[in-house]
Amino acid sequence: MASPPPARTPARLVVLVSGSGTNLQALLDAIDENPAAYGARVVAVGADRNGIAGLERAERAGLPTFVCRVKDFGSREEWDAALAEATAAYEPDLVVSAGFMKIVGKEFLARFGGRCVNTHPALLPSFPGAHGVRDALAYGARVTGCTVHFVDDGVDTGPIIAQGVVEVREQDYEDHGVALHERIKEVERRLLVDVVGRLARNGYRIEGRKVVIQ
Ligand code: GAR
Repeated sequence: MASPPPARTPARLVVLVSGSGTNLQALLDAIDENPAAYGARVVAVGADRNGIAGLERAERAGLPTFVCRVKDFGSREEWDAALAEATAAYEPDLVVSAGFMKIVGKEFLARFGGRCVNTHPALLPSFPGAHGVRDALAYGARVTGCTVHFVDDGVDTGPIIAQGVVEVREQDYEDHGVALHERIKEVERRLLVDVVGRLARNGYRIEGRKVVIQ
C-alpha cells in the first residue's frame, strides 16, 4: 500500500459520514480550538445519504458537502467512481471515513489508497463489518474498543494505526450495546482526533501491516 505523507500544511481532509457525525464534530472542534497547531483542516464532507446530522454539522461549520447515493447509479462500480470523483474535486491529502457505512471500491482505492483512514467500533481484527459493537457483545467479549486503520480492499482489514480499549459491563447486555457504543465513541473521538493530527503533522509510511508515524 502506498503511503504518501500529506504534502501540504495544513493537510486537506475530506470526511465521509453516514450518520450522526460526532467523530466529524470532534475533528472540527479540535481544528477550531487551534487551527495552526492541529495541522489539518476539513475542506469538504461527503455522505452516502441525505438528511443526516453529519451533513447538518458540516453545513453549520460552513463546509461544502456532497452526497453520492448508491441507488442513484446503475452499478456499485459507477457509484464508487462518482464518490472518488466527488472526493477528488476537493484535492484531499487524507480522506477520513468517520462512520461512513459503505465499502469503497477499486476506483476509490486507486486514488486514495494509503491515505484513507477509517474508524471502527471494535478491536480489529475482531468483529469487522457494520455491527462491530453488537457482534462483540454477542460473542461475549469482556473488552472491546475502537480501531483507526487505513482502508484497503477488504472489510476493515487495512493496516492498524491505533486502538483504544473499552470494558464491557454487565448492563451492556440489557440495552443491546447502546451505552457500550457511546462509551466506545468517547474513546474513539479522542483517538481519531489524535491520529489524524499526527498523520497530518508528522507524515507517515506504511510498511506492510505496520504504520510508522514519523
Ligand atoms: C462510529 O462508532 C464508527 O466507528 C462507526 O459508526 C459510528 C459513527 O458515529 N462505524 C462503523 O461501524 C463502520 N463499520 P458518528 O456518526 O457519531 O461519528
